[in-house]
Amino acid sequence: MSTSSHSDKKNIIVRPPPKSFANALTTSQFTNGEKPNYELAIKQHKEYVKTFEKLGLNVIILESEEEYPDCCFVEDQALIVDNNVFFPIPGAPSRRGEQKSIIKAITPHMRSIHWCQEPGKIDGGDVVRVGDIFYIGKSKRSNDSGISQFQGFLRKLNFESYVVNVPDYSLHLTTLCSSPNFNLLLIPESCQNDLVFTNLPKSVEIITIPDDETYGCNTIGIEDKVIISEGYSTVKKELIERGLEIIELPMSEFRAVDGSLTCLSLFYK
Ligand code: GLY
Repeated sequence: MSTSSHSDKKNIIVRPPPKSFANALTTSQFTNGEKPNYELAIKQHKEYVKTFEKLGLNVIILESEEEYPDCCFVEDQALIVDNNVFFPIPGAPSRRGEQKSIIKAITPHMRSIHWCQEPGKIDGGDVVRVGDIFYIGKSKRSNDSGISQFQGFLRKLNFESYVVNVPDYSLHLTTLCSSPNFNLLLIPESCQNDLVFTNLPKSVEIITIPDDETYGCNTIGIEDKVIISEGYSTVKKELIERGLEIIELPMSEFRAVDGSLTCLSLFYK
């Protein structure tokens, strides 16, 4: 998830895709409408889990829920900031029932609990933390009310936040960018003018990536390591050049339904 600081990732919540995964929502931004393969998705998810186990995180695996084809994308269901949680009203009505089991798993570990109220809606996938500044995507899934409620939560925690308009062709802000460490922001070339990051600190370097590697711009940073999707050579090269250690994971089946690396996890310390 994109709201945790890189050094705060001690526990990770994941959920394997259900057998109904082929019915997950998709904009087909990254495919020609091919359905994901369940068996391969399970294999890729196991590799994802193994990676975090090897990195020494405590991995909590929730049970899949057949009635929710998108239930593996846990990122959308909770916004955890320094062990304070804001439970959003998820932007896709068909995904709201996924939240019940997430609430149960997370609540005992949180210092404070906050709830989004109607008519707000916001998905975790629309939040990108760059150092201690939060950028919140206004998208088909996240509206003004949801965003301003989340900004109120952040203000109470003394964090700055800004709204970024997400182009219509993309599901979430995290579909287009990520901050693999405190001082880097990866974005696709064609988004240079569209994605406006207000008050981005001068210490943050924006790395622009060719548009055919847009999916690769979603990464997960943990200390000096960065998990990236397999097959994005420019992303890999740029991060290696900056001294980061890369871990590549196959993500083809999640990509088919707009799911990126960050979508598959929730972190807390
Ligand atoms: N398939 C991910 C989502 O639409 O939320």
